[in-house]
Amino acid sequence: MELTLEGRRIVLGIGAGIAAYKAPQLVRRLTERGAAVRVVLSSSAAQFVTPLSLQAVSGLPVSTDLLDPAAEAAMGHIELARWADLILIAPATANLLARLRGGMADDLLTTLVLASRATVAVAPAMNQQMWAHPATLDNVNALADRGVRVLGPAAGQQACGDEGPGRMLEPDQLADCAEHLCYGSEPRLRGLRVVISAGPTFEDLDPVRFLGNRSSGKMGFALAGAAVAHGAEVTLVAGPVALSTPAGVNRVDVRSAEQMHNAVHEAAASGCDLYIGAAAVADFKPSAYALNKLKKSGDEGMTLALAQNPDILASVAALENGPFTVGFAAETEALEQHARSKLERKKVHMLAANRVGRPGCGFDADSNALTVYDANGETTLEQQSKVSLAHRLLVLVADAMDGSTRSESR
Ligand code: PMT
Repeated sequence: MELTLEGRRIVLGIGAGIAAYKAPQLVRRLTERGAAVRVVLSSSAAQFVTPLSLQAVSGLPVSTDLLDPAAEAAMGHIELARWADLILIAPATANLLARLRGGMADDLLTTLVLASRATVAVAPAMNQQMWAHPATLDNVNALADRGVRVLGPAAGQQACGDEGPGRMLEPDQLADCAEHLCYGSEPRLRGLRVVISAGPTFEDLDPVRFLGNRSSGKMGFALAGAAVAHGAEVTLVAGPVALSTPAGVNRVDVRSAEQMHNAVHEAAASGCDLYIGAAAVADFKPSAYALNKLKKSGDEGMTLALAQNPDILASVAALENGPFTVGFAAETEALEQHARSKLERKKVHMLAANRVGRPGCGFDADSNALTVYDANGETTLEQQSKVSLAHRLLVLVADAMDGSTRSESR
């Protein structure tokens, strides 16, 4: 597994809720991605999960008490507050959210939050009625307005037997969020509605065969998670991929280019400030769909007639009062020439070109490298993980969108 959190220092704050039993798994997910994790238990959390097991999985001392002379001698609470790149509080109970909103410093965890400049994220976990209570929602909104990132909650079956929103996100999802938060400390897309396409499209030929491509969806999914971390409201239109949905993303699954075209335009019609086309859309589909499996006829070859698919990116770029549009280009040669030609032909604001076929880059790889073209020139983003690349690309996009708003308002 790629160490996407290498060198990152995370304080994991654990609230006193039943979801605390997942904390050791979360510590594992974070440490196996390379993070150093210091666990801090809120008052009473030790009733749900033991400091000893957390110490065993994190490999570092666990802190529980603000007034513990031994812990203070090892790493004082102010030092710990300065050490952290990210304070992730999971589970965040209704009581803990209220105390954080109130600026309380009545235990080690709340004191750390007040004393730290690190990004703070909370993963609420509570009964669905408690989550829906106006007091809780008010606290969560106040914390979000203050820059605290709110991760989830998910909906589903609850420990108390109720069903609804209030479940803590799963450890894997929280580790993905932590990755994004470590890159996107400043939410550059706050309040923007972003539509992203990802993955391949499959063009059916008959009930058993289709034309497809090697796209895994990793680049587009990384962009979707990164855009959420940057404060955007994200709709991800995904072709057939085997990836789980990044937390906070509204996902629409499609199969063919035509379905992707319709889903993207439906999402764009309900409000879209930025469209990013990371999907590898099939330019062509079989002219006709055979209702029954096509059969071999003797030793003869077969000629397949193809019809053109709609160009989703160009059609979004052509919308009246349309969004800022960013396209991708997968090229095997003459990268700049093809990328610039696509930038102009499809009339997009920005085009991110990747050279596919290079080791560790392009289709299905965990990393990638991009050269980003726009009217002002080009920027090279060296080979790095797709998550890190997604954040860097979004910063370029945010800068360009700021620039285009300024020139429009002149
Ligand atoms: O999914 P991964 O495995 O992580 O791989 C990532 C990737 C290589 C697929 C990604 O980085 C990438 O390059 N995506 C675009 C691939 C592609 O199809 O490029 P293109 O040059 O054929 O298309 C140019 C642009 O037009 C793309 O933004 C594409 O989404 C869009 N397009 C193309 C055809 C079409 N009919 N409609 C479109 O919208």
